[in-house]
Amino acid sequence: MEHSEQYIINGGTPLQGDVHIGGAKNAALGLLAAAIMTDDTVTIENLPDVRDINVLLSAIEGIGASVDRVNAHTVRICGKNISGLSVDYEYIKKIRASYYLLGALLGKYKKAEVALPGGCAIGARPIDLHLKGFRALGANVDISHGLMSAEAERLVGSHIYMDKVSVGATINVLMASALAEGKTVIENAAKEPHVVDVANLLNKMGANIRGAGTDVIRIQGVEKLHGTTYPVIPDQIEAGTFMFAAAATGGDITVRNVIPKHLEATTAKLLDIGCRIALYDDAIRVTAPSGRLRPTSVTTLPYPGFPTDMQPQMAVVLGIADGHSTVTESIFESRYKYVGELTRMGANIKVEGNIAMIDGVEKYSGAQVSAPDLRAGAALVIAGLQAEGQTVIDDIYYIERGYESFDEKLRALGAKIEKGRKNGSIKTEKDARFSA
Ligand code: UD1
Repeated sequence: MEHSEQYIINGGTPLQGDVHIGGAKNAALGLLAAAIMTDDTVTIENLPDVRDINVLLSAIEGIGASVDRVNAHTVRICGKNISGLSVDYEYIKKIRASYYLLGALLGKYKKAEVALPGGCAIGARPIDLHLKGFRALGANVDISHGLMSAEAERLVGSHIYMDKVSVGATINVLMASALAEGKTVIENAAKEPHVVDVANLLNKMGANIRGAGTDVIRIQGVEKLHGTTYPVIPDQIEAGTFMFAAAATGGDITVRNVIPKHLEATTAKLLDIGCRIALYDDAIRVTAPSGRLRPTSVTTLPYPGFPTDMQPQMAVVLGIADGHSTVTESIFESRYKYVGELTRMGANIKVEGNIAMIDGVEKYSGAQVSAPDLRAGAALVIAGLQAEGQTVIDDIYYIERGYESFDEKLRALGAKIEKGRKNGSIKTEKDARFSA
């Protein structure tokens, strides 16, 4: 049913005005898992009201924790009555980050079992580094019958070198080691803002973690954690998506409630392609040039490099720049699945291996396309907003995994975008809110 929803976009209107950015989905996923690590209540504020978050909350309820949704953006979690240490495939198949419950439960109860995540639309996505970290802390880790289970008599701090920078493995090991005995050092740790956010929450809960945000994190294990209240950081990818939509449509918008420092790589590329940027304490204004955008080249890298989660949006913008650009994807191997759809909208892009070579066209042309995954789906929306004529985007279910009220926020900026169903009916705004 929900898979039949689509966006209908009539392109060509420059985006103008202010948009309020919500809490970071990827940070919230880590924070919600960490919240079950105490028997006290943890209140998480500024939670984005998106599908992935709601799935993780169901998984948390599924193991017996209490989840009290105070309002759309606030939840109280109490992990006191957790009765099951096994997280079902039903959740992990919908959202990989359910595997954060493995680190959280292992830390708290020294035992946990989570269904194995498979690959996903953007690549194989192995979990070897998560498991290596748990083993280094003394857990026996077993993979069989589609489950990964970890169990330890005692978790003991250790020195762990991550062979590759991994956000997920860093957060998972951080959680387990927060309640291990003694000191853990994670080297070559991920430096993403959401790693820092999870460390900050755990510290507020009584953990002793130093160095999050650098590539060496030191954790002195504590015996137990306690309750607190904590707001999720702003979503740098949601903000970046709106900023690129402004650039593509010749617009002028201000993204509010952001941490400009987290958006440095994104703003640097907007400057490269000819946009003007004004930075404020918690807002950024992007003004597109009056003529064509300039081409550039970009390589995705772990933070503070250019985020892979902004790669499709960047490619869509470069697809209408005045000249030749290249995009190099260095994190995930199959992250160009949207290029075929974009080509149907008139783009001139050739992919060889992990490099996309782009010759800018003046305008996209409206077409019927499908969102292949979350970020690529958002990128196709940007293309539709710039395109001549009407674009219909199917499978917007993927986009709603990570963007709250995307169409509403775009409409408030002047975009002509409506939500409809494949059978042709356009949903009213009220209906749209109920299903968000
Ligand atoms: C997180 C984000 C995702 C983002 C990605 C990279 C969440 C919920 N998701 O995903 O949106 O695109 O960071 O910024 O925060 N790897 C291994 N072994 C492992 C784990 C990872 O080889 O055990 C590899 C991956 O295949 C990939 C790279 O490391 O090539 C980075 O992946 P990772 O940072 O772990 O991504 P996620 O945490 O899954």
